[in-house]
Amino acid sequence: MKEQVHSITDEALAAIAKAGSLAELNQIRVNVLGKKGTLTGVLRSLGSLAPEERPIMGELVNKARTQLEAALEDKGRQLAEEEQQRKLAAERLDVELPGRRPRRGHIHPLRAVAEEICEVFLGMGFSIAEGPEVELDYYNFEALNLPPEHPAREMQDSLYINEKVLLRTHTSPVQVRTMEAQYPKPIRIIAPGRVYRRDALDATHSPMFHQIEGLVVDENISFGDLKGVLTIFAQKIFGEDRKVRFRPSYFPFTEPSAEVDVSCGCGGKGCRICKGTGWLEILGAGSVNPKVLAMSKYDPAKYTGFAFGMGIERIAILKYGITDIRLFYENDIRFLRQF
Ligand code: FA5
Repeated sequence: MKEQVHSITDEALAAIAKAGSLAELNQIRVNVLGKKGTLTGVLRSLGSLAPEERPIMGELVNKARTQLEAALEDKGRQLAEEEQQRKLAAERLDVELPGRRPRRGHIHPLRAVAEEICEVFLGMGFSIAEGPEVELDYYNFEALNLPPEHPAREMQDSLYINEKVLLRTHTSPVQVRTMEAQYPKPIRIIAPGRVYRRDALDATHSPMFHQIEGLVVDENISFGDLKGVLTIFAQKIFGEDRKVRFRPSYFPFTEPSAEVDVSCGCGGKGCRICKGTGWLEILGAGSVNPKVLAMSKYDPAKYTGFAFGMGIERIAILKYGITDIRLFYENDIRFLRQF
């Protein structure tokens, strides 16, 4: 029986030393010291010994028990400590780590180009005017010398709300609204905004797009002033080396009228953007038609003026070499991130 106690104790001590977790340690305690444990078994069988041997064996078992309990407690403390260290290491917070920066957005390329264009004109003393997108036929067409049934209305396929109200097809109605509001003061405004046409969506057209209108009305305003202003505009937006060219054209609200081209960045050699011509068409312009001035009460004998209108998408497309207008409206982050 003595040997049995020694071997139980040695085995248990070895197992305790090897134990890797508190659960394992507990299992050893149950196996050896529990109700049905091996050492408890020995204690129970003391009754079968001769009376004089019982106290000796009893003491031996108790010693073994005390020794094992102390070993279990030591190992338990050691394991708990190790576990605590592991947890602390895993949950360590480095308060000095720099934070994660959220990605910053930026304004849309169309708005950026519009703002850039506005800045150029603000620098030349223009101010900004606005008008409604749902517009009266009177302002969109009639007061611009496009009476009902005028064939030139066909130049702009329109989206009507009723006979007298439509989505404005250009920013030119702001010309009339400004003349009405500012008469008889001189005018020097630009009017950026959204416009709508019954055009199918393709690489160069959209049923909703943006324009910037310009209008100057004063005494002694000449076509030469228009040329000077548009030359400065083209050079500020596209580059100081650019030239502008005027081609005769027709708009009912300007007389004479012109399509204005800016020389291409390829320097006239011909490239993909200018399709080999060396010139890029950027806007329509002209001297304000005296009829339009008179309809808005400005005396054409005293006042003259010029007006121009450009598509913002077109300017952005030419400035950045963009191949498809639809890219502006799709909100594809891979496209937008490039600006
Ligand atoms: C006009 O809208 C005139 N109001 C411009 C004007 C103002 C002339 C003042 C004289 C004096 P036009 O219809 O050509 O003109 O349009 C001007 C520009 O808008 C075009 O050069 C083009 O760049 C752009 N544009 C026209 N239709 C579309 C469309 N569906 N999608 C995108 N851009 C368009």
